[in-house]
Amino acid sequence: MAEQQRIVIGGGKRLEGEIPIQGAKNSALPLLAATVLCSGESVLHNCPHLSDCDSACRILECLGCRCKREQNTVTVDSSVISCTDIPASLMREMRSSIIFLGSVLTRCGRCRMSFPGGCELGPRPIDFHLAALREMGAVIDERHGYLECTAPKGLNGARITLSFSSVGATENIMLAASLAEGTTEIHNAAREPEIVDLAEYINKCGGKISGAGESTIVIEGVKRLSSCEHRIMSDRIAAATYLCCGAITGGELILTGADHSGLRPVIAVLERMGCSIYTYGKSNVFINVRRPLTSPGTVRTNVHPGFPTDAQPPLMALTAVAGGTTVFVENIFENRFKHASELVRLGAHISVEGKVAVVIGVRSLSGAELVATDLRGGAALVTAGLAAEGTTKIAGLSHIDRGYENIEGVLRSVGADITRK
Ligand code: EPZ
Repeated sequence: MAEQQRIVIGGGKRLEGEIPIQGAKNSALPLLAATVLCSGESVLHNCPHLSDCDSACRILECLGCRCKREQNTVTVDSSVISCTDIPASLMREMRSSIIFLGSVLTRCGRCRMSFPGGCELGPRPIDFHLAALREMGAVIDERHGYLECTAPKGLNGARITLSFSSVGATENIMLAASLAEGTTEIHNAAREPEIVDLAEYINKCGGKISGAGESTIVIEGVKRLSSCEHRIMSDRIAAATYLCCGAITGGELILTGADHSGLRPVIAVLERMGCSIYTYGKSNVFINVRRPLTSPGTVRTNVHPGFPTDAQPPLMALTAVAGGTTVFVENIFENRFKHASELVRLGAHISVEGKVAVVIGVRSLSGAELVATDLRGGAALVTAGLAAEGTTKIAGLSHIDRGYENIEGVLRSVGADITRK
């Protein structure tokens, strides 16, 4: 159904009001994989209603777990893992399904899954994941598009140095090492806030992880983990997206349940553009725009605590109508400017050369018919449509629904003229 539907936006409405921020997709997915480590019933609160979370639950059920969702609480009973094969159909639904490899392998001693597909951002290699698991003793055969993984004598702790601070590889190693024999060190580990959330859950289950959020993480393997309750952190990328939506309409928003620290790199750039942003209380962020926005200069995406690549597309939409020229350097993914050509259809002045995109701000955009080709690129089109004069129609909603819970309902609640039909 999402394929035929489109989001229709009547641009030019100033956003004003309060937005409660959804749970983090990029924390929910590794946490759902982590429930496989415990033989019991885990309860995850603040789990967003997203198609990616549904895909992860389908994988859990294929493994033999029982999943139940009540509103934003997902309960996973992983007492019995009756299958260790994840079919290609489920692997293709979500390329980050590779995150299940570490937990299934360390719990069951074997795992078979098809190679996760590439995605719109380019090939999504998993060499760091496989190399690390092999260092821990896994035997992994890659043939006919399948990964046949076994750990005949269980996994052993290892000293692993990542050549790149890969988020998924760091998470997979943490999951595998939690039940391995001995201690694992991860050097040059990813420092994203979602890594800290995962470590907090595993430690609540009886795990022994230290250093999460830093470049060196130490995981002491334990014999067993018992399930627990956990509240998933808030989604910093959804929050960043809604800040861009507020700014592009010259509006005034309060985000509630937002994670300040995870937003710091984004807030710094928005303030450079002329936004006034205040964080207050435990988790509130206020934004308004007091003067015409100007370019933040050069924006380089980087691993945390650098500027997050996932916030690059919505920020690009905002810079399209800011005064001056903005240079984006995309250092994380090799093909993450596909939204640029769609923004140009709205009248943006953007030229892309490899990993660099140059945006020359224009006074206004005008509505057009657009197609989203990936999750955050789709969010960029929605952001731009809110400011474009006239009507903007956006197809390809299945991409957007992977990561944003009811995006049109959220934006309509703060004054946007936006519907899905
Ligand atoms: C996670 O993807 C996020 N996804 C991505 O969010 C996010 O953009 C990315 O981290 C970077 O922050 C989830 O958490 C589910 P990486 P992941 O491993 O783990 C290369 C979104 O929109 N690489 O840090 O796949 C890879 O090709 C999504 O919510 C290898 O070369 O990211 C990429 O260029 C998009 N070999 C770079 O590293 C590997 O084995 C970053 O990848 C693994 C990765």
